[in-house]
Amino acid sequence: MSQHFQHDVLVIGSGAAGLTLALTLPSHLRIAVLSKGDLTNGSTYWAQGGVAAVLDTDDTVESHVADTLDAGAGLCREEAVRFTVEHSREAIEWLIEQGVPFTRDDETAREDGGFEFHLTREGGHSHRRIIHAADATGAAIFNTLLAKARQRPNIELLEQRVAVDLITERKLGLPGHNCLGAYVLNRTSGEVDTYGARFTVLASGGAAKVYLYTSNPDGACGDGIAMAWRAGCRVGNLEFNQFHPTCLYHPKAKSFLITEAIRGEGGLLKLPNGERFMQRFDPRAELAPRDIVARAIDHEMKRLGVDCLYLDISHKPADFIKSHFPTVYERCLGFGIDITQEAIPVVPAAHYTCGGVVVDQHGHTDVPGLYAIGETTFTGLHGANRMASNSLLECFVYARSAAADILKQLPTMPERQKLPSWDASQVTDSDEDVIIAHNWDELRRFMWDYVGIVRTNKRLQRAQHRVRLLLDEIDEFYSNYKVSRDLIELRNLAQVAELIIRSAMQRKESRGLHYTLDYPDQLPEARDTILVPPIYGE
Ligand code: FAD
Ligand code: SIN
Repeated sequence: MSQHFQHDVLVIGSGAAGLTLALTLPSHLRIAVLSKGDLTNGSTYWAQGGVAAVLDTDDTVESHVADTLDAGAGLCREEAVRFTVEHSREAIEWLIEQGVPFTRDDETAREDGGFEFHLTREGGHSHRRIIHAADATGAAIFNTLLAKARQRPNIELLEQRVAVDLITERKLGLPGHNCLGAYVLNRTSGEVDTYGARFTVLASGGAAKVYLYTSNPDGACGDGIAMAWRAGCRVGNLEFNQFHPTCLYHPKAKSFLITEAIRGEGGLLKLPNGERFMQRFDPRAELAPRDIVARAIDHEMKRLGVDCLYLDISHKPADFIKSHFPTVYERCLGFGIDITQEAIPVVPAAHYTCGGVVVDQHGHTDVPGLYAIGETTFTGLHGANRMASNSLLECFVYARSAAADILKQLPTMPERQKLPSWDASQVTDSDEDVIIAHNWDELRRFMWDYVGIVRTNKRLQRAQHRVRLLLDEIDEFYSNYKVSRDLIELRNLAQVAELIIRSAMQRKESRGLHYTLDYPDQLPEARDTILVPPIYGE
């Protein structure tokens, strides 16, 4: 039997954004935090490098803002950048208060009350400003926030719950446009339950899984973007898909990232013959922004016809490497690569979704009662290319801002009447799950081939043709069979792929992460690509 639940705040996602929002709200509110797998399911747990913030006494807000605008290739919204950077220090202070064990800097521990944590460097940053916990910052943050959330009786942490779709007044045929909660598949019972909420928050991460090769964990399927689109929210700048330049190239290493902080601490990119090449592409060489480095690697791999290039930090003392990068060291050693002695084979892989659900500084979407925070959003911070370690920062700053706004709106948002149950009367068990697996594979492969680091009109047209066929097939499947996690994710991935392709086709220039051979130049005027869902044209 399916069940009904009612909360003040329903948070879809248990990563940096979702946990921060839940912990920032007061303890008299009934909050549910959902994860579609176990609670570690999102990207947060796997983050390596750290969090960018203005912390050093020699650093300034102006400098962090300028670097972000530069990396974003003229497309960042300056007010979003300024808002994020100006709130960076207080976000980090909040994390330190929660108990996150950031790496301390023994050499520069200050008695004058200055900053005592080690700050590393990454691409695009003109200062050392990345606070980190060795090379496993995400796990340190996640474990700390989760432990805090477990101590709060008002926060229910619910695993194996997959949000299927948002419930809105419009979908129920009621007057108004409010979001009223979500239908959620309980993977243990197999039932779709009804979660009513005064406020619903999408904190469901990015969509890098739309590509065949990715640094992201399995759940990064753009569920939040697809659900918001179907509920009537605009989406922005989805053509800007960031490829991380250095993922481990090894047949058995699924999705393992080699942190950019290795380049920040002196790691060099090399061709198979040991020659450096990045200085031919950008004066900042290995520390150029990610779009430039990933494109350079892709170019050199194609020019030489090789499967990977190399990242070499073996010239640094072994103790330094082991203490700064223990996770990367151990993981590579497990594959027989001793990074203190030899270079690491690397390739670019899909890493981050710069666009997403259009929100303002408080995380408001276009649907009243529905907020969105974290990687699932388009805030304007990243422009055409996200600067390293600005993503976690965005999660904390916007989650805290959305929580403050929810608190303000609370008295105006009544409890709702009981919502209708999910209607499963017309569907049966599927006997052809193999179709789902085939469609998954086909989608991710043509996105990699046709909508990757280098695009053309023809490739995009091919991808659009294929995704439309897939969407029709998936719609039919969805209407006839019971939902499963795989089907929900495939439906969402295909929807987001279609939006990515459509956005890419609209951009008749090359800018930041969107590079097309048909329009290699950047237009003088920078414009966002905003897509409006069809309901507004009905
Ligand atoms: P996530 O942490 O991805 O969490 C998403 C949550 O939503 C999960 O709990 C998931 O289960 C849930 N969810 C999704 N769909 C549904 C659904 N339908 N129903 C229910 N639950 C759902 N950024 C940095 O700033 N610094 C770094 O050093 C850094 N390193 C990175 C390293 C790696 C390997 C990766 C993959 C990313 C890295 N990033 C880094 C990016 C950063 O980690 C992410 O952008 C950020 O963690 C996203 O957090 P989030 O809270 O928005 O979503
Ligand atoms: C990394 O450690 O290289 C990832 C940093 C990021 O994605 O911001």
